[in-house]
Amino acid sequence: MTTVSLIDTLGRPLRDLRISVTDRCNFRCVYCMPKEVFGRDYPFLKREELLTFEEIHRLARILAEYGVQKVRLTGGEPLVRRDVERLVEMLARIPGLDLTMTTNGALLASKARALKEAGLQRVTVSLDSLDNDVFMAMNDVDFPATRVLEGIAAATAAGLTPIKINMVVKRGINEDSILPMARYFRGTEYVLRFIEYMDVGSTNDWRLDDVVPAGEIVARINAEMPLEPIEPNYRGEVARRWRYRDGSGEIGIIASVTQPFCGDCTRARLSAEGKLYTCLFASQGYDLRRLLRDRTSDAEISAVIASLWQARADRYSELRTSETAGLPKIEMSYIGG
Ligand SMILES: C[S@@+](CC[C@H](N)C(=O)[O-])C[C@H]1O[C@@H](n2cnc3c(N)ncnc32)[C@H](O)[C@@H]1O
Ligand code: SF4
Repeated sequence: MTTVSLIDTLGRPLRDLRISVTDRCNFRCVYCMPKEVFGRDYPFLKREELLTFEEIHRLARILAEYGVQKVRLTGGEPLVRRDVERLVEMLARIPGLDLTMTTNGALLASKARALKEAGLQRVTVSLDSLDNDVFMAMNDVDFPATRVLEGIAAATAAGLTPIKINMVVKRGINEDSILPMARYFRGTEYVLRFIEYMDVGSTNDWRLDDVVPAGEIVARINAEMPLEPIEPNYRGEVARRWRYRDGSGEIGIIASVTQPFCGDCTRARLSAEGKLYTCLFASQGYDLRRLLRDRTSDAEISAVIASLWQARADRYSELRTSETAGLPKIEMSYIGG
């Protein structure tokens, strides 16, 4: 397949696509979908509002022609979208794509094998603590960490590897889980990545005081298990890499708040209802679903996407101040991480 590179106003190419396949989730993580907001009456998208698998596949194919090399399925929780493995199978047929998924792991034990057979290459699993009580306080639906570990084991057995583990750290809630998590995953095939709690959306009541800065996370681990920084794997890698000095593996830190990485951001995001966003912190997306359902040709959709990317100037995290944190933004559960 011949590809054409799209470059934005800050010289950044389009390389990654995150596709949210649903805005629903079986968890109510306090930093993402707080129960008080995402309750029974919350206006989740209706079935007919969601892009169909055929529509998602069509957009992914068009975007692949612009140099997208990596597609990550996310949500909400991608595994609650019915038959998501059928979408995986369709996307896996697009040549040259690295196809991955971010999941909370709750349904992985039952789905891992089918996902692998459909062509999914790897998964990233979110796990905020090994302590069942702390983890339940984070997911707020009484889901034990032990069952996520079973999901990780099933994904490993199915070959959805290498697997990354994401831990969001929130001050006063799970900061005491940093060291137990580091100890548990050190020396294994899993790469643990710590994520600074971000001001995504406007429902999680984000405060800078709730962020445990990357520097502090590294310092705490380094005090017990000495670390040294290592080079990124590729341009645009969001996690900064640290290696244990004794050779027992590495960790990653995603420091969107204290060490922004907008300069290398090569990601576009597609919401479950077909809006294209050029930044996680954007307040508006471009409605591609309207074009898809208006019988617009591939060439016309392609031209729209090119003009959107070529006009892109987003660098929210670099500009973030206490004032910008209050601006309207889309929810993480809507656009995916
Ligand atoms: C929105 S979730 C979607 C996929 C899936 N439900 C999961 O939890 O892995 C993607 C990632 O975003 C992270 N996340 C959600 N809200 C966040 C926040 N406010 N700050 C930092 N990371 C967040 C989650 O922990 C997860 O690793
Ligand atoms: S972080 Fe993932 S699992 Fe938690 S509420 Fe958000 S979408 Fe659901």
